[in-house]
Amino acid sequence: MKTIFRLLCLAAILSAGNAWADPTDARQKVDYPDEVKAKFLANMRDHLESLADIAEALSQAQYARAADIADTELGMNSQGATACRPSAQGKSMHPMMDGAGQDHLMAQRMPAEMRKLGQNMHRAANEFAEVARKAEQPSGSPAAASAALGNVIKQCTICHAAFRVN
Ligand code: HEC
Repeated sequence: MKTIFRLLCLAAILSAGNAWADPTDARQKVDYPDEVKAKFLANMRDHLESLADIAEALSQAQYARAADIADTELGMNSQGATACRPSAQGKSMHPMMDGAGQDHLMAQRMPAEMRKLGQNMHRAANEFAEVARKAEQPSGSPAAASAALGNVIKQCTICHAAFRVN
């Protein structure tokens, strides 16, 4: 009886400890230290703000402005792409936990598949910029620019479906 009671207690403690874990959540968890996680999520909120700015520029037919925002804030050479760039992989960790050190840790602990999905999104942003710049020309198409922006957003959702940090 005592053993069963102990097992029940153990089960209760374990399930209470995992109360937030959703068993139907199949996303892979990426383990980041708290400071790195905070920086990662701040990057993400910046991504969303950039998307909002791009959508606003598009709605005002300001295609060159939309393209510039995409290239500088979401593209492969943007600050927020640091941990996703192929060059970030395998670099030694910065001794100080400043912004650069966090980017290195973020890159080192990022699963290869996630980095690939990140690169897909950053490249899609550069592709959007190209299409948006063309939309300004007589031969260009505003609808093609909207479709290219849709593709950027799709890349966000593909990664969100596969990975989590919390
Ligand atoms: C390479 C993977 C990846 C890509 C690409 C990606 N995200 Fe994320 N994003 C994540 C992960 C992982 C989380 C954390 C989710 C969790 O733990 O539940 C996240 C969280 C977020 C959050 C929540 C931030 C917070 O403070 O909790 C926002 C907003 C967000 N992403 C926006 C975007 C937008 C907009 C894009 C595309 C422009 C994007 N993300 C592209 C992986 C990605």
